Amino acid sequence: MTNEIRMGRAMEKLIIQGGRALNGVVDVSGAKNAAVAIIPAAIMASSGVCLIDNIPDIEDVNCLERILECLGCRIKRDKNSAVIDSTSVNNLNACTEEVRKMRASYYLIGALLGRFKKARVELPGGCSIGVRPIDQHIKGFEALGAQVKIEHGAVIIEAERLVGANIFFDVVSVGATINVMLAATLAEGTTILENVAREPHVVDVANFLNTMGANIKGAGTDVIRVTGVKELKGCSYSVIPDQIEAGTFMIAAAACGGRVRIDNVIPKHLESISAKLIEMGVEIIEEEDSITVISNGRLKSVNVKTMPYPGFPTDVQQPMSTLLSIAEGRSIINESIWECRFKHVDELKKMGAEIKVEGRTAIIDGVCKLTGAVVKASDLRAGAAMVIAGMIAEGVSEVHSLDHIDRGYPKIEEKFRSLGADIVRAEA
Ligand code: EPU
Repeated sequence: MTNEIRMGRAMEKLIIQGGRALNGVVDVSGAKNAAVAIIPAAIMASSGVCLIDNIPDIEDVNCLERILECLGCRIKRDKNSAVIDSTSVNNLNACTEEVRKMRASYYLIGALLGRFKKARVELPGGCSIGVRPIDQHIKGFEALGAQVKIEHGAVIIEAERLVGANIFFDVVSVGATINVMLAATLAEGTTILENVAREPHVVDVANFLNTMGANIKGAGTDVIRVTGVKELKGCSYSVIPDQIEAGTFMIAAAACGGRVRIDNVIPKHLESISAKLIEMGVEIIEEEDSITVISNGRLKSVNVKTMPYPGFPTDVQQPMSTLLSIAEGRSIINESIWECRFKHVDELKKMGAEIKVEGRTAIIDGVCKLTGAVVKASDLRAGAAMVIAGMIAEGVSEVHSLDHIDRGYPKIEEKFRSLGADIVRAEA
């Protein structure tokens, strides 16, 4: 996206007339946090092309597509699929404004290091939800034999050879797990990664790499064993459904009331969210690849602590706080992953929510109703939280700064409109 288009998005708003129940069927798109790792991983194919399906139509993916093209990849993209030919990569210097802006650009480090043994990649940006260090990524690359320098805001990395190692991560990190796994795939010998993240998207990236010819075992447990291979080749792959988009729809249905069937999901990935909603009094029906949420009347308060998978995902904490703001009684949210993920609370308060934030804890006293207001999306999931707030509030709300929402939710207003919400996009 050019700066002008990005500014354009930032200047748009959603206008929501609240108070409508949600009913019907909605389809979940491919997982953002899997796609934004799988696309850079496709750089590692030194022969053949990668045909990737079920890619979400979001700005983070558009941005990665342009970054890969700058590196010399040839890409043919349809809305939900991409053919990536990485045989022509000729630039190992990923230093554009787009690389700086998005978080997942850090996966270029592991992918380029694995295949070419060197890279220069600008330090990543992303949502402002707390300090986002990459020390564990660097520790992993160094253990594999790479030399790493940070100069002028870029990671400069090089290795004569990459050799398998035993690496114990100090924190459970999705990004470090995937990034080091990428590089280890093309290292000599075996790498054992311990205390790794078990998120569904970690498993999806491992499955993608294995389809390209890698030898990775244990993804989805807390130890991953990577036996290095000489090269990876193109393949066909379909990205898993988005656990967080599905969770957002579940929470929206619970908050607005009604009956919503959410299709193209893996119910197992949603268990922590289903369990909380059931505790609140929501009815959940799980089928093989769909989940139905039925909600009538006022729900009970619950306490939530965000945890790495299979715990309650931090990425649905903000939408959940909107739901809890109208539940009966006091709820407490403890955000254990990010130290600064309550920026949306001030916006919810403008709509009448009663929430007190103390460090990483939010104390929410449920109110009978929210009222419409002009609010902004301070980050991606905060944006989803505000859209849900607008849909349950009495009267009209406006949600601004849509560039954040468009980075990660494909056509959010169209999907909610198809369920009966009164929501339109307009110039701000
Ligand atoms: N951490 C370190 N050192 C590191 C890496 C992480 O201390 O080297 C800490 C972080 O500060 C944080 C914790 O470890 O406290 C977990 O961070 P993690 O590395 O797992 O986060 P991430 O990879 O940067 C991904 C998602 C986030 C999601 C987190 C946690 C992508 C592109 N982003 O971020 O998604 O919140 O995992 O599940 O996959 C979102 O989609 O809205 C989003 C922010």
